[in-house]
Amino acid sequence: MQSMNLTPDIENGIFSEKMLDAVNTDGPVPEDAALKAYYYLQKDIEMAADLKSRLGRTPTACVITFGCQMNARDSEKLSGVLRRAGFEMTEDEKADFLIYNTCTVRDNADQRVFGRLGRAGHYKKSNPGMKIALCGCMMQESSNVEKIQKSYPFVDLIFGTHNLYCFSEYLYRIYMQDEKIADIWDKSPQIMEAMPSDRKYPYRSGVNIMLGCDKFCTYCIVPYVRGREKSRDPEEILCEVRALAADGVKEIMLLGQNVNSYGKDLGNGVTFAGLIAKVAETEGIERVRFMTPHPRDFGDDLIEVIRSHPKIARHIHLPMQSGSTAVLKKMNRQYTKEGFLELAYKIRKELPDCSVTTDIIVGFPGETKEDVDDTIDVIKKVGFENAFTFIYSRRRGTPAASMPSVMTEEEIGREFDRVLKTVQETAKMKAELLTGSTMEALAEEMNAQDPSLVTCRLSNNMIVHVPGDRSLIGNIIRVRLCECHGFYFFGEIAEE
Ligand code: SAH
Ligand code: SF4
Ligand code: F3S
Repeated sequence: MQSMNLTPDIENGIFSEKMLDAVNTDGPVPEDAALKAYYYLQKDIEMAADLKSRLGRTPTACVITFGCQMNARDSEKLSGVLRRAGFEMTEDEKADFLIYNTCTVRDNADQRVFGRLGRAGHYKKSNPGMKIALCGCMMQESSNVEKIQKSYPFVDLIFGTHNLYCFSEYLYRIYMQDEKIADIWDKSPQIMEAMPSDRKYPYRSGVNIMLGCDKFCTYCIVPYVRGREKSRDPEEILCEVRALAADGVKEIMLLGQNVNSYGKDLGNGVTFAGLIAKVAETEGIERVRFMTPHPRDFGDDLIEVIRSHPKIARHIHLPMQSGSTAVLKKMNRQYTKEGFLELAYKIRKELPDCSVTTDIIVGFPGETKEDVDDTIDVIKKVGFENAFTFIYSRRRGTPAASMPSVMTEEEIGREFDRVLKTVQETAKMKAELLTGSTMEALAEEMNAQDPSLVTCRLSNNMIVHVPGDRSLIGNIIRVRLCECHGFYFFGEIAEE
């Protein structure tokens, strides 16, 4: 039902049970995208109840996520819709409804999806009522969609990154109208975040602050599959953060491909530094993280805000990609080896208790062993606390895809091992420096191997296992770091 008094809730941009209750499913389908999503969610509730009575049990649903934190956040929304509709969530891929939220940043991500999809086809043979869906970045590539339609005809639903908010509608249509749907959009007409969300951790949540990426690094597919940068309204973001805090969330992770470009397209003077300060000042929020900043736009204002807000985590993930100026230029990263080092040194000086981690690509077209020497030089000079190291993967349609390689696959493999070894050495060295100190840690979960231990995360993102029980989970506790094991510590709860 569309009426004036519903508008303020929609404008808050967060999911509201009140809005869902107010929907009139006997009326026409609303035109407004948010109201339409609520309308279909209400229809899904009816549909799932009907399914339950036909099956004689609660229908199950499984969401499998590939890729980055943004996909993980999207998956929480897919689960949110499914759970709210009345499905029971499971990790078993033999569920009645199965959806893969895909990533296409590297070729091995694509291959993993095709492998899993083949298996899912067999599950469907023994459960013909099963519905299989695919969404996410891989679906934004028409060749993937064509391949799926041709080779995996049992797939019921395909959608992309720009129309996630239509999920409640698609779900209804594949079940009630027995349709097969493939609906891919090439851009996001609006930012629509008002979907119920099923958080993986009750005490932590990602919050999208912007969509897309405009940086066009020459190796990267993300700008093509996630579209242009678009910042979300700051009031909407803060409203979501307040609602999460009220719901028991202590740690917020602000998400975007380039968080420090936040606000540039809004034209109202709002910056990422200004936004994160406000988030950190929100009552109930104990920790704020962000993913991912770009070295090019990492301003002094952000360093200052981090310094003056202890609730902002002492961890900066600063993707370097390469330490060679020549390679960085070919990658279109828009900084040099010296520029990156200068920024890293500044962070080390101004924020001495912050850990600095990075992403590195080995084997970019044209990269030589001497270029890798430069990368290793930067790793040693900065002394990263950790780094994700990737072998370059050619992505069709990106500028680097047509650039020739200098090194052979074997050589790239050897260079990769050389980089990895250096990363592991610096990471271990950095962690060892902290042995014996006492710090605050968020108790996250019971240790999977040893049920007498609780796994906690320090503000600097390092992991410490301490003896304790389930009652600690979700709390910030003081811990002493007793023994360093490279990437993690064994510790104990510190006496007050
Ligand atoms: N926006 C972020 C990260 C996006 S993707 C940034 O600017 O860094 C995450 C990481 O995947 C990247 O940092 C990069 O190291 C890696 N990556 C992206 N494209 C890749 C490719 N074609 N081959 C190998 N690694 C890639
Ligand atoms: Fe990809 Fe570069 Fe954008 Fe990061 S900044 S998402 S690496 S294009
Ligand atoms: Fe992958 Fe898409 Fe994230 S390609 S890394 S899931 S934005």
